[in-house]
Amino acid sequence: MEILGIDVGGSGIKGAPVDTQSGRLTARRKRIATPDGAHPASVAEITAAIVRHFCWTGPLGCCIPARVRQGVATTAANIDQAWIGTDAAALFSNATGCPVAVLNDADAAAVAEMRFGAGRELGGVVLLLTFGTGIGSALFNNRALLPNTEFGHLYLNGMVAEHYASDRIRKENDLGWDGWAERVQEYLDHVERLLDIDTFILGGGVSKPKKTAKYLHLLKTRARLMTAELMNEAGIIGAACVGESRGNLAEVLRNA
Ligand code: BGC
Repeated sequence: MEILGIDVGGSGIKGAPVDTQSGRLTARRKRIATPDGAHPASVAEITAAIVRHFCWTGPLGCCIPARVRQGVATTAANIDQAWIGTDAAALFSNATGCPVAVLNDADAAAVAEMRFGAGRELGGVVLLLTFGTGIGSALFNNRALLPNTEFGHLYLNGMVAEHYASDRIRKENDLGWDGWAERVQEYLDHVERLLDIDTFILGGGVSKPKKTAKYLHLLKTRARLMTAELMNEAGIIGAACVGESRGNLAEVLRNA
């Protein structure tokens, strides 16, 4: 089935129709810069613009960088505080006229990776981490997702980890790949002290092969370390899969 997936990120809002059987985008994705502050109303307008761009009238899935419970955002780290308590599913449905399922962006990316990407064959404890504006996390035990984990908000050296080791911090502080990898190593060590992980999947923009070549060899973990395969499209694909099942994550993962 073809479903429109939309990924609301810190710097861009990206969408494309997805064939949910193959996990492939069926048209070139449309990207619009995230408005300053990412207020719910302006994000909803852009979502509607993406829906119009594809002349879309069917169901869609949308992922946002926040905890989401039954369509309602309950946190807002890198987006406007007005998201907290906002019924994002209702907001996007009203703006687009389409039925919309909403989930956390790292959970969406992880659903896609488990179904079509690096996690296809993985059981055990899998932690997908996305490095971008923040650090997103998605934790699976034997392919069952524990939704809405926020391991990017662990404290590391007296700081919120995503303010220390995200890709945004690498760029803003001019850390270089080596300097950034040292921070990521500290972060992964910390996570491994807390959780007994079988496999890490590193995702987000830093999972592009030409980027992983610059830092992956510098990282050492007890758990197996893999990189995501679907890269920047993972959020769109995962959101579309959840849109198809109208927000029923368990159903999506059963099919994974
Ligand atoms: C948010 C998470 C999100 C992550 C990646 C964090 O700041 O709290 O919900 O998954 O950024 O976008």
